[in-house]
Amino acid sequence: MRLNAFLARAGVASRRRADELIKAGRVTVNGEPGQLNTVVGARDRVAVDGEEVSRQPLRYVLLHKPAGVVTTVRDPQGRPTVVELVPAEPGVVPVGRLDADTTGALLLTNDGQLAHRLAHPRYGVEKTYVAEVEGDPEEDALQRLRDGVELDDGRTAPARARRLGRGRVELVLHEGRKHQVKRMLAAVGHPVTRLHRSGYAGLTLEGLEPGSCRELEPSEVMELRAG
Ligand code: URA
Repeated sequence: MRLNAFLARAGVASRRRADELIKAGRVTVNGEPGQLNTVVGARDRVAVDGEEVSRQPLRYVLLHKPAGVVTTVRDPQGRPTVVELVPAEPGVVPVGRLDADTTGALLLTNDGQLAHRLAHPRYGVEKTYVAEVEGDPEEDALQRLRDGVELDDGRTAPARARRLGRGRVELVLHEGRKHQVKRMLAAVGHPVTRLHRSGYAGLTLEGLEPGSCRELEPSEVMELRAG
């Protein structure tokens, strides 16, 4: 991580102010003056004016996102955001995105490395959705969802799909394109009327009411890392 990002993450200063501190020679890394292009790793000791900067502990929060809340840190239109639903002090950001009207499992963390991995298509994190749709999908529509649907940004990868009841479908994806579930179901003739993510990377919402969140157990974090 760049030195200015490290200082910003640790809450010492904004990145721009951190650059000023670095240029002024007030920041050392392992006792040597830091430079604007210095990269710091897990074992480096960073100090400002001789005082060591402690790292922010890594936090992992699972939120049961309610409808009407946007998945950003700050919304220019002033709508409520997912970050406002988690305790202020962890300084976490959402991993990936759920539409404002989608409910369900959303992970937030300040562990940039893990967030990057989980969001990267290469790792194909499993996401389980329950959709209420117009009409009642028959087997051929479900099979098309499983085989892959042609969307304007390409064909979707194989998925699991099953009917849960009249007009209710469970879809398990390893991709995360924008509005993917809504677009897939619309493409097979069953537009979504309600969408809920019941599982993300093996995490479920058991015991979590809409709008509430919990910190992950260390064993859950280890499983996410092992991926
Ligand atoms: N797919 C969608 O269409 N919307 C979401 O919020 C998540 C997946």
